[in-house]
Amino acid sequence: MATINDNYLKLKAGYLFPEIARRVNTFAQANPDAPIIRLGIGDVTEPLPVACRTAMTTAIADMGDRDKFKGYGPEQGYAWLREAIATNDFQARGCAIEPDEIFISDGSKCDCGNILDIFGHDNTIAVTDPVYPVYVDTNVMAGNTGDANDKGEYGGLVYLPITAENDFTAQIPSQKVDLIYLCFPNNPTGATATRAHLQAWVDYAKAHGSIIFFDAAYEAFITDPSLPRSIYEIEGARDCAIEFRSFSKNAGFTGTRCALTVVPKTLTAKAADGSDVELWKLWNRRQSTK
Ligand SMILES: Cc1ncc(COP(=O)(O)O)c(C=O)c1O
Repeated sequence: MATINDNYLKLKAGYLFPEIARRVNTFAQANPDAPIIRLGIGDVTEPLPVACRTAMTTAIADMGDRDKFKGYGPEQGYAWLREAIATNDFQARGCAIEPDEIFISDGSKCDCGNILDIFGHDNTIAVTDPVYPVYVDTNVMAGNTGDANDKGEYGGLVYLPITAENDFTAQIPSQKVDLIYLCFPNNPTGATATRAHLQAWVDYAKAHGSIIFFDAAYEAFITDPSLPRSIYEIEGARDCAIEFRSFSKNAGFTGTRCALTVVPKTLTAKAADGSDVELWKLWNRRQSTK
């Protein structure tokens, strides 16, 4: 008899958004004129920019041309795309990120979950609370947590409250954690992190040998020039941080799908025999196989 991955039975949040949608629909039917602010799963509202549409139209024409059509792409993404991202999104802001540290993918949601494939199950994991639910759910599915309690908090995770008292930025934990999820600008609060706040996280991570998963999906919405848009604007981040980025929010790609993960070549974590392993090599292997 086939068996299942029992960790999926621990999931609670999978019921949250359908339940929000059900209640909103019931309310909307009963109150057709009521203005509703929807706090369930959202979507972008603007169409794709003209530059993207023009490039896509050209690419479609190329696919019908024997001399120009493209088959399987390079596993890490096309070099011209990685070069443009390294130059415009990172080096232009003073971040020393090279094209071969960039991995193109079909979405940040997938990358946030898939990254767990290259880490052990014995890491202590910290998440800010509230935050994008995918971080917690993918750890539950991977078997990195215990069961949820009545408040929906999973055993084994370290929750870092984001509240008005701490200005909507989580406090650095007093205990040692190995993997830390940070999302700035934050989903759902919208709060941003100052340079000093991110520097404190990077210093913590370097002191403890921790890895920061920095989700910058909403970086394009930062308007204050003094605020960092990438973790790599912070000194030392190349030694302790992986960054996730997406074209979903800045270019309307929620349906089209295109994102990237940055894994600096300087980033390492421990193997069971105590040796240091370069994480970009594991991620490259993972992305070219699965
Ligand atoms: C913080 C955050 N990261 C990642 C994503 C997912 O991005 P993608 O569409 O690239 O999977 C979202 C989508 O809502 C998000 O809010």
